[in-house]
Amino acid sequence: MSQQDDLVEMGRRLLINNYRQPPVVMARGEGCALFDVEGRRYLDMTAGVAVSILGHGHPGLANAIATQARRLVHVSNLYYIQAQLEFAEALSRRAFHGRAFFCNSGTEANEAALKLARRYQAVARKQPERVEFVAFENGFHGRTFGALSVTGQAKYREGFGPLVGPVRFLPFGDVAAARAAIGAQTCAVIVEPIQAEGGINLPPPGYLQEIRRLCTDSGTVLIFDEIQTGSGRTGTFYAFEGEGVVPDVLTLAKGLAGGIPIGAMLANEEVARGFEPGTHASTFGGNPFATAAALYVQRAIDELGLLEHCREVGSYLGSALLRLGERRRPKTRGARGRGLLQGLVIEGDPSEIVTRARARGLLVSVAGGNVVRLVPPLIVGKAEIDEAIEILDAVLGDLR
Ligand SMILES: Cc1ncc(COP(=O)(O)O)c(C=O)c1O
Repeated sequence: MSQQDDLVEMGRRLLINNYRQPPVVMARGEGCALFDVEGRRYLDMTAGVAVSILGHGHPGLANAIATQARRLVHVSNLYYIQAQLEFAEALSRRAFHGRAFFCNSGTEANEAALKLARRYQAVARKQPERVEFVAFENGFHGRTFGALSVTGQAKYREGFGPLVGPVRFLPFGDVAAARAAIGAQTCAVIVEPIQAEGGINLPPPGYLQEIRRLCTDSGTVLIFDEIQTGSGRTGTFYAFEGEGVVPDVLTLAKGLAGGIPIGAMLANEEVARGFEPGTHASTFGGNPFATAAALYVQRAIDELGLLEHCREVGSYLGSALLRLGERRRPKTRGARGRGLLQGLVIEGDPSEIVTRARARGLLVSVAGGNVVRLVPPLIVGKAEIDEAIEILDAVLGDLR
């Protein structure tokens, strides 16, 4: 048995059976390439589920992490943390101004947002009867109970009830449904500006503006989940910048520290009043190690011009996928996305395409049941995009 086979056997024996890993163990990475323990190269268009925005093995990030690790890894929020404060300040220079709470993952950031909204309505605004959350069909917000409860895909919720409620799910993009649902009983609306896991669904023009207006008029907290769309993924630091709206609360994770676990919830001054000392906390949240990495990533985004680069190569990838989608009809049904959050829509289940692409050295993943998702590191180049398209074309050509 090879070393890889041995490790895969260990995984099947030792780990709880909640993932569906293929028989591959990654050993190292460089830029947009990953290498498994046998030394085989893969072109990575997954970036660890839209996380590794600077690519793999980035020397500057490695250096920032190592330097901070020697100085101070963890101290908890019993005390102020310099890197956390500087990171909060760096974030406040982007398109959202407010206060920050740090945690360790996306789902935790959403838990914080839902709790903040509830407490803001109940305590700060003295309207404890406003408890209903409005969320969207095909939305995805995470796996802990609160975040799961507002995730609009039954397959993730099944078997876990009773969940947190009340939650009302609306069809994403339906203005009339939003007008009918958002009102004096609504605590908060939670929405992804572009639904990512749900199949890379873009909102119709003006839709998020209408949601914003309904929330403002009814005193409802508007939460944007930018866990996947944020950190520059769509070509602006936040996806909402392209929509002409600003939420009250914003959640981030994934790309924020280039692969070191971190989550953040940002809230405007008004809604931030919902938390007071002792009402919410996280032991690891925003620790020196994670926030030093995040601070490095903030600087790298600007120094490398990654937002402009993402817009340029993102539209290159989007056009290439549209052409591929046309060429390979009826096996495909078009392509959609923004920046480097792109999807090729497949007629039927795309898992066979993912498996065959991997066999040819390309890593992609599935979103929304019928979309092959491409979310490469933001440093991806046009030659790598060409390589990915060529492999996908060959895979589609092989399919019967
Ligand atoms: C939009 C969105 N929200 C929340 C999450 C959950 O993040 P995490 O897996 O870090 O808990 C994800 C993860 O895919 C996501 O895409």
